Amino acid sequence: MSITPVPRIAVIVVAAGSGTRLGAGAPKALVGVGARSILHHALANVFGGPPAQVVVVAPAGHEGAALTEARDAAGDRRDLVTVVTGGDTRQSSVAAGLAALWGDVEIVLVHDAARALTPPAVFDRVAASVAGGSAAVVPVLPVVDTLKRVAGRTVTGAVDRSEVAAAQTPQGFRRDVLETAYRVAHAEFTDDAALVAAAGHRIDTVAGDERAFKITTPADLERAARLVAGSVPPGAPRVGVGTDVHAFGGDGDLWLAGLEWPGEPALAGHSDGDAVAHAIVDALLSAAGLGDIGTHFGTARPEFAGAHADAFLRRTAALLHEAGWAVGNVTVQVQTNRPRFAPRRAEAERVLSDALGAPVTVGATTTDGLGFTGRGDGVAATAVALVLPLR
Ligand code: CTP
Ligand code: MG
Repeated sequence: MSITPVPRIAVIVVAAGSGTRLGAGAPKALVGVGARSILHHALANVFGGPPAQVVVVAPAGHEGAALTEARDAAGDRRDLVTVVTGGDTRQSSVAAGLAALWGDVEIVLVHDAARALTPPAVFDRVAASVAGGSAAVVPVLPVVDTLKRVAGRTVTGAVDRSEVAAAQTPQGFRRDVLETAYRVAHAEFTDDAALVAAAGHRIDTVAGDERAFKITTPADLERAARLVAGSVPPGAPRVGVGTDVHAFGGDGDLWLAGLEWPGEPALAGHSDGDAVAHAIVDALLSAAGLGDIGTHFGTARPEFAGAHADAFLRRTAALLHEAGWAVGNVTVQVQTNRPRFAPRRAEAERVLSDALGAPVTVGATTTDGLGFTGRGDGVAATAVALVLPLR
């Protein structure tokens, strides 16, 4: 039984766009910024705002991934998550979100997942303005550039900068106002405020935030990545190193670097023999001065028998966090003849980064036929980790 009260606010997070201008080869919301997806960052900020039903409008075919991201970002608010499938245009995606609102909702905020780093305070401001009597509210920033009206390549006039502002999201509305405006809309509008204005309503403004910029191009993605990396707390960093070796000869399929490799010979070990994961754990524990893998995951711990990288890395991240350390990044290199890593390297990095909650990079090499890895007896992995004090 849920004890969460039914909220009167809903946030519709539109994330169904394809991200043509970003050109990352995946729906924009699922593209990574640091260790998390754009959608995860956006939702973490949404859940930092006022208690609300959160309707995630996902790209068709990616609803499951969106639900996983949403539940992970929601923490103890996971009961408030709804996922629906988006449409061909942003407007139809918002309409799909509107159709999923719970009965008690009175205030609706519509937010672009692409504005992933929008701080929770902006959600608070927008919701408070609607709760205080506005029918419609947009967060805005002053425009700093001098503006010109142009026709082709010729300036035709000046635009008074004090008369314009740059609109962001989340945009907030009284539910009845937004629903009615969507029902009567017969054209495509550039944002929800324009659609509601066309239905005859006054639009109020609150202060936006520089961090609420929309990730549109690869340069925007780099800007977001720099901001996310810069939010790691300052203090003297520490490094640690970890190595691990496992022999081939286990049962079942190979597990290595957090991935299952069907048809490849398995490694032997108390857990799944994932030398890459174990080297990462040792590097992290040594950097934080917390002993080594045997201290925390030894054979005396039956719950880690047969466990995969995911369980090891989540537990290690928790141990470090309890001890006051954030993970900066980890890099690991594996020596082995097989499997061939290149086709799944990015996948391995994603799985390991997701489990750890920090960037993990993976490289693979062979040893020119020399030594035990060269003979194909087993694999060896070496990891280096950087950790930063939380306080
Ligand atoms: N959006 C959506 N459904 C669509 C189109 C866009 O939910 N059919 C969402 C996007 O996911 C994004 C927001 O609307 O969070 C703003 O759109 P935009 O930044 O233009 O994203 P994309 O449409 O994905 O990008 P592009 O225009 O470059 O393809
Ligand atoms: Mg678009």
